[in-house]
Amino acid sequence: MKKIVILISGRGSNMQAILEARLPVTIAAVISNEPRAAGLAIARRHGVATHVVEHRAHADRATFEAALAQTVDTFTPDLIVLAGFMRILSAAFVQRYAGRIINIHPSLLPAFPGLHTHRAALAAGLKIHGCTVHFVTPQVDFGPVIIQAAVPVLADDTEDTLAARVLAQEHRVYPQAVRWFCEGRLQLTADGTVVIQRARATDGNLLSPALDPLGS
Ligand code: GRF
Repeated sequence: MKKIVILISGRGSNMQAILEARLPVTIAAVISNEPRAAGLAIARRHGVATHVVEHRAHADRATFEAALAQTVDTFTPDLIVLAGFMRILSAAFVQRYAGRIINIHPSLLPAFPGLHTHRAALAAGLKIHGCTVHFVTPQVDFGPVIIQAAVPVLADDTEDTLAARVLAQEHRVYPQAVRWFCEGRLQLTADGTVVIQRARATDGNLLSPALDPLGS
């Protein structure tokens, strides 16, 4: 079974969705850079080991990332899942885990990288908004897209109502992306896009479309 480590900084609702999705993976640890992250208690309630690598305890990004990598590597994870991890990671850190570090972002990338995505979507008068799971590359909120989900923007939406609608979709697509990765079904092509392989039964045959969520 593949092993994952989840990195958080706060509430941890995406982490919780992954923990509760009963995926065929071992969740080796949840690591937070923020000791007060609410998600730490949620992880412990689920019986998952937690660790804090506090960025404030380190003089600079390089020493923080060295400590973070050391803790991550203790668990020899196949996949690192950023779930509301609010520190920008250097190119060196990202490259160390190239192809096995993923993130969720609350917009339909490449629209609205960075913070306050729901405010930006409302200000732009968009009718559709959403979320994106992507492989992490040195450019922040960029990188090959694995899965996206779209939601309507309603006339009376506020930042909060729109955020809640998007978050419900985040909780659906992030466990799905982790499952695909751990089933070995994500393939990064030479042109930097992600292809999702159809599911196969134990005999190696493709599952019928009715049994395969990707079936057509
Ligand atoms: C989510 O909206 C996620 O897309 C963004 O940060 C937020 C984290 O929320 N990267 P939570 O900690 O998972 O509840």
